[in-house]
Amino acid sequence: MTFKWLLFAFIIKLTNGLVQVPKLKLNDGHEMPAIALGTWLGFSSNGPKSNEVEQAVRWALDAGYTHIDTAWIYKIEDQVGRGLKGVPRENVFVTSKLWNTFHAKEAVVPALRESLRSLQLDYVDLYLIHWPLGEFANSSYDSTDYLETWQGMIEAKKLGLTKSIGLSNFNQKMIERIIENGLEKPAALQVELNLNLQQPELVAFCKSQDIAVMAYTPFGSLFYSKAAPDAPPPRVDDPALVKISEKYNKTVPQIVLRYLVELGVVPLPKSLTKSRIEENINIFDFQLTEDEKKLLKTFDKGYRVIPQYKWQDHPYYPFEKKVNE
Ligand SMILES: NC(=O)c1ccc[n+]([C@@H]2O[C@H](COP(=O)([O-])OP(=O)(O)OC[C@H]3O[C@@H](n4cnc5c(N)ncnc54)[C@H](OP(=O)(O)O)[C@@H]3O)[C@@H](O)[C@H]2O)c1
Repeated sequence: MTFKWLLFAFIIKLTNGLVQVPKLKLNDGHEMPAIALGTWLGFSSNGPKSNEVEQAVRWALDAGYTHIDTAWIYKIEDQVGRGLKGVPRENVFVTSKLWNTFHAKEAVVPALRESLRSLQLDYVDLYLIHWPLGEFANSSYDSTDYLETWQGMIEAKKLGLTKSIGLSNFNQKMIERIIENGLEKPAALQVELNLNLQQPELVAFCKSQDIAVMAYTPFGSLFYSKAAPDAPPPRVDDPALVKISEKYNKTVPQIVLRYLVELGVVPLPKSLTKSRIEENINIFDFQLTEDEKKLLKTFDKGYRVIPQYKWQDHPYYPFEKKVNE
């Protein structure tokens, strides 16, 4: 460990164990904390319990998180709002997302106002278009052009309802189309990014455009309980990962999150478990070597946990389609 990192670890100890999270400068001048608590309960959830996310948000704040990632569709923005009660507004960065059923330009501001009511906030720090594709309430496709939706996002920012605006699940061509049309450049892109899906070209493109990248589903298929039968390795007991984790006296999930931070992306680990919430943020006092990063790169297989093939016939489906054998 270099002197710089030892000093950093010492400073963290001095601040009562509260982890100090670095910040990334966004292209619009605002700053985003380098890790966030994810709040999606997953496809298998039977619906949120009354206060589980509220509690997780409180534990996260106590551990030093200053960034919470949420969305209208998660149906827990009210819990996030209650969890944030009492925290000075400027001390926390809140990201939320516009759902597919609000893609008409004039639907964006009312949708954000509804999220703000649930969150009990006057503004969010970052508002993202959740997916480039629109749907109607009956799940039929709404082919509203995302350029129109983006104009609604620009309007929401002008009204002060969000400090920054960005995209989620857009591909490079779609982002280029927004920029080529002379519209405001997105400040951030949130995409799936984990060991099995490292997206180096997309990350390099965003870097070249000064667009911050946020990594959702950061653990990918690391845990046996979540991995599909066809998911490539590694799992959490992979010997190469365990060896690295032992070297730094960290856990394998911490090594994965640290790797993402070193790729320059903002991981959004979700947990409802106090000890894991604390574990996941405790990654800013060590640094991986070039050889370790090279090894971690070899797990990149372009494998998606969330391809959402159900939308693949939509004109704005962003990913490679599944080919029927
Ligand atoms: N923009 C989008 O379209 C999109 C899509 C997906 C996700 N997201 C965002 O990204 C966040 C994270 O993604 P995700 O929820 O799909 O998956 P994830 O964060 O990769 O994994 C969450 C799972 O890992 C477990 N876990 C967390 N930390 C752990 C640790 N240290 N050790 C062992 N298990 C651990 C959690 O269990 P417990 O909760 O039981 O502790 C939970 O089952 C979401 O919550 C959401 O905010 C965005």
